[in-house]
Formats: sequence, structure tokens, C-alpha cells
Amino acid sequence: MGDGTTRDAWSSRWGFVLAAAGSAVGLGNLWKFPYITWNNRGGAFVLVYLACIAVIGLPVMLSEIMLGRRARQSPAAAFPELGNPKWAFVGWLGAATGVVILAFYTVIAGWSLRSFVQCVGWSINGYEAPSSEAFGAFLAHGPSQIGLGAAFLLFTAVIVVRGISGGIEKATRILMPVLFAIMLYLLVVAITMDGFGEALGFLFRPDFSALGAHAVLEALGHAFFTLSLGMGAMITYGSYVSRGDSIVNISLIVAVLDTVIALLACAVMFTIIFSVPSLKETMQAGEGGSTVGMLFVTLPNLFYTQMTGGSVIGPLFYVLVGFAALSSTISLLEVVVATCVDRFGWARRKATAAATGLVFLLSIGNALSLGASKAMSELKLPKVLTAGKAGVLSIFDHVAANWLLPLGGLFVTLYVGWVLDEKVAKEEIGTGPVYQGWRILVRFVCPVAIGWIIYEVLRGGDFS
Ligand code: PHE
Repeated sequence: MGDGTTRDAWSSRWGFVLAAAGSAVGLGNLWKFPYITWNNRGGAFVLVYLACIAVIGLPVMLSEIMLGRRARQSPAAAFPELGNPKWAFVGWLGAATGVVILAFYTVIAGWSLRSFVQCVGWSINGYEAPSSEAFGAFLAHGPSQIGLGAAFLLFTAVIVVRGISGGIEKATRILMPVLFAIMLYLLVVAITMDGFGEALGFLFRPDFSALGAHAVLEALGHAFFTLSLGMGAMITYGSYVSRGDSIVNISLIVAVLDTVIALLACAVMFTIIFSVPSLKETMQAGEGGSTVGMLFVTLPNLFYTQMTGGSVIGPLFYVLVGFAALSSTISLLEVVVATCVDRFGWARRKATAAATGLVFLLSIGNALSLGASKAMSELKLPKVLTAGKAGVLSIFDHVAANWLLPLGGLFVTLYVGWVLDEKVAKEEIGTGPVYQGWRILVRFVCPVAIGWIIYEVLRGGDFS
């Protein structure tokens, strides 16, 4: 890859759009957004999140793709290539963040493998509603958690080792449209259910008295997480984009697709919860684990009790959850691998093996922190850092999404806004009103907003 002449590339503009969308759309949309939105009581949180996507996420996405395309290098090599070797730390930080995210993300992604098998069983033998403890017992079973996570990591490595256009692009071209079609079908079913109105109210009726500084940081952090920003994924993917394409349009399409899928996932899941009285009770009582497992516990109920064709959609849906996660883990691992290739001069194979080994070791602590090991499950860090969350997996997730990604994003905006030669940005983005608006956002609005939110959290602020 390193010498430019043999650098792999997307075969077309759509190839890149779908791969970038594949990176963005993942467990962040289907698993994490619904459960943090539920825990933060909807409305106001959703509004803050949408504002973060539009005002901070979009300009950062444009900045990252621009840096990648210009430098044609992975993040830690891109800044030196553009003439600022001191900024390479942003790329290293990104690669480290990638390792941290992969270590918990692959464990959660492993759950989709289990749900798939479970659904196939139900489709063949008839549905039997699992007991409310079943999911917790699965989480607390160490070998399953380690094994499924490792299997998922291995799938990722097998694709990443083969490079860009042959593997990643081909797969996402088919998978993303199918995922979209299934989400729309689920929406149609949800609209006919009793709880749909209540679900929309919960999602879109803001109540700002429920919103603390930590919730705002969580919305900001999630905007970065869900758009795959702040750790160099879009710099890396952008490095394979050809000159002629409009990176403004690409960024916009990816952000809109990602947001629509996240909102659809919430609308469907909350509708089921509000339509099934027993579910509604347990969820509102906030019983531990149940919100984290929402994607894997709530939806089967819909498939097998409310829906025509549910026994086909059920297994298919978890295949797609798995693929959505896979197109995200591929982009995460690709950052780490490309960094080792570009900076250490390692062969792709060696880089992939080393990165995968490291992630696997870290994932063990995560996998055992869901009940299997008391020490791992109850681990705590200072409250200001983790908002009181306990357990290795919650802490990895929280620190990566709410601290490392916003910080990475902050550095990117400071770099493109204040350090990078203006000429470069003009050549990449144009000189029209879009450029003008973007420039104001990355120079002033984004750094101030991110800095302010971080400041509020550190001093224990509350926005209610
Ligand atoms: N955006 C992915 C998701 O929503 C996660 C991700 C984060 C992927 C950062 C790459 C980089 O699931």
C-alpha cells in the first residue's frame, strides 16, 4: 500500500458511499442508540443528538474525508504527509481508540450470532418466549462471551487481510440496501401497533429538565461514535477515494442514512415496548441488563408474535445486524492495520495478526465483565470520567465514545481550521457558501462546543 502506485481504491463513488455508510451504520445505530436514548428518557436527548450530528458531526466528517483523500495515507502518516509531523499523535490516538472500541464491540457483535441461532430454532420449532433471566444468564456465561466475540473478530480479520475493493466494497453493496428494506418493513409493522404513538412521543417530545451535562456529553460522544468519527476511520477510508468525487455530497448522504436508521431502530423498538404491557413494566422499572440487551430481547417478541413472515425476518434480521456490525469492525481494524503498514512498514498480514491478537487479549476482560467475573463486572473508575458506570465493558465503551472520540474530533477541527493551509481545503471543498459555512464551524463552533461540554462535565455541571 505504502508507495502510492499500488494503493487499493474504491471502484466507484457508490462503492465508497456504501462502505462509509457501512462503517457508520452498525451496533451504534441498532444496539447503542436505542438503549442510551431509553436510559436518557428520549425527547431532549434525541434533539441534542441531532444537533450534534448536524453542527459537529457533519463538518468533522467532511474534514476527515478531506484529510484522507488529500494525504492518501492512514491517519498517523497523513499529518506528516501534509507537512505537520507533530500532529501525527492524533493518528496514533485514533489507532489506540480503534483497539479500545474493537475490544468491546466484538463482544456485543458476538451476541448477534447467538440471536441468529436462537431465531433459527424458534422458526423451526415454534416460538417460546424466553424467561426474563435468560439473557442475563447468557451474558454471565464467560466461555460464550469470549468465544463468540473471538469468532466475530476472526471474521473481521479474514476480510481486512484481503484489502479494500475486493472484500469490503463488494459485501456492503448488497448488504446495506437489504438492511434498509428490512428496517422499512419493520416500521410498517410498527405503525399498525398500539404503542406507535407513544413511542413517537417518547422520541420527539423534549423534556429538558431531565438533561444533565453527562447526558449532553453522551449525545456528543454518540454522534462521533455512530458516524465513525474522531479515530481516523474516515481519514483512512477517504484515503482510497478518487479525486473527482464531491466529498460534501458523500458526507451528507452518509450522515443522513446513519441518522435515519438510528431513528427507525428506536421507533420500532419503543413501539414494541409500549405495545406489550409486560415488557413495558419491566423496562420502566429499569431492571439491569434489560436496556443493554434491548436489540436482542425486545425484537424477537415482535418477529414471532406480531408479524407476518416473522419466522423468516427473524433470523434474517440478525444476519444483517451481524453484517452491519462487521462492516463497522472492518473499518475499525482497517485503521489499526493501515497505521502499522504505513508507519512501521509491516506487511498487511503481519499487521493484521498483531492487531487482532492485541484486540483479542483486551476483549477477554470485556467478555468477563457481564457477570462472569465479579472483579471485572464491578470495576469502577472516578465518577467524573465514567458517570458512575461499572464493569470493564461499560467503562471501555464510555471512555472511548465519550472521551477519546470527542477529543480526536476536537484535534481534527483545530488542525483543519487553524493549522492546515487554507489553499488545501479550498481545493478539496471549493470556495462557495458550503466552504464558508464549514470553515466557521470547524474554526469556532465545533471547538468551542466540544470544549464547553467537556468543561461542564469536569465541573459536574447540570443543564436542567
Ligand atoms: N459507527 C459504528 C457504529 O455505529 C462504530 C464505529 C465507531 C466504527 C468508530 C468505526 C469507528 O456502530
